Amino acid sequence: MNRLFSPLRLRELTLGNRILVSPMCQYSAVDGKMGAWHVAHLASLALSGAGLLTFEATSVSPEGRISAFDAGLYDDATEAAMAEVLAILREASPIPLGIQLGHAGRKASSRRPWEGRDPLPIEEGGWQTLAPSGLPIAPGGPVPRAMDEADIEALLARFTASAERADRLCFDYLEVHCGHGYLLSSFLSPLANHRRDAYGGSLQNRMRLPLEVVRRVRAVWHSKKPLGIKINGSDFAEGGFTLEEAGRFAAELGAEGIDLITVSGGGVDPGQKIALGPGYQVPLAEHVRRQSGLATAAVGLIVSAAQAEEIVASGKADAVALARAMLFDPRWPYHAALELGAEHAYPPQYERAHPSIWPGAALTRADRSG
Ligand SMILES: Cc1cc2nc3c(=O)[nH]c(=O)nc-3n(C[C@H](O)[C@H](O)[C@H](O)COP(=O)(O)O)c2cc1C
Repeated sequence: MNRLFSPLRLRELTLGNRILVSPMCQYSAVDGKMGAWHVAHLASLALSGAGLLTFEATSVSPEGRISAFDAGLYDDATEAAMAEVLAILREASPIPLGIQLGHAGRKASSRRPWEGRDPLPIEEGGWQTLAPSGLPIAPGGPVPRAMDEADIEALLARFTASAERADRLCFDYLEVHCGHGYLLSSFLSPLANHRRDAYGGSLQNRMRLPLEVVRRVRAVWHSKKPLGIKINGSDFAEGGFTLEEAGRFAAELGAEGIDLITVSGGGVDPGQKIALGPGYQVPLAEHVRRQSGLATAAVGLIVSAAQAEEIVASGKADAVALARAMLFDPRWPYHAALELGAEHAYPPQYERAHPSIWPGAALTRADRSG
């Protein structure tokens, strides 16, 4: 029996299959507002046949954006822009929709990836970044301001307000971004967090802010809807957050009402050493799943149908999240279903493309492989 195409229930939400479109920043918003690019991009993914489509990392405040072109959900204007995108997607596709909320911390105020990712100087429109400690991410880089109690309270209020907006927009799923060296994951990492107060030092202290964010968000997010989080299973850097700590963190997250953990890694330290290979982060998801008993999604170089099926069928993770493979081939789930011999209904508008009724497709494939 095929597992990848079996349903996954998270609270009252049932995903039709276990393929998740991983959140992907598009760096194409204007003043935090999504626009035409997002409609086109997200619509193609909404028709992908995946079980869940989660919107890109969306900032809870203007200074929490990675670049000046990141999407936000922090005021009425950003909410209204997102509502327009959602209205189109909802009319076109029944796919469940999620949103990832985050704050970039010391990785904020940067140029876009295709402009080099460097820090954007204040003179060119950049801004003062915030972090657990005044430590630049790279030597010689801009020094973030260490957050004080008032900053922490303001951040919690920001997450709460954005989660309320997400609930009002009727998203089906909300994910807190607590990975990749952005603000919440930098609180977890001893490499970025040198605080001596209640938010630094022991794991208990480093977890305090992320857990408080989850608690506040869970309190305003609909109790019937699943809440997820993306975490680092490892910083992949000496002295960083470890897999063992991730397992303990995950157990606490379960107690706060988290339903799904996507386990990723890295992004905290430029000196990180990652042994890249197919499914290189799957063992992290497997460990976290075992330690916490929570549903997990594996992410990172999951590219083939057989690989995805094996991850889910062997119980290493409950779902797979795909980013680059999905951008490369936004019909990935349909192609995977074909390869695995799974039932997966096309939208009626696309039915004539199904190879079972279009012998030309088989011919084309045979030509290609020959
Ligand atoms: C264009 C692009 C944008 C991304 N933006 C985000 C993001 O907004 N939030 C996030 O958690 N990860 C983001 N990521 C990371 C992916 O979600 C994923 O964790 C990573 O790419 C590994 O998965 P993959 O090998 O399937 O691409 C992004 C990746 C890409 C390629």
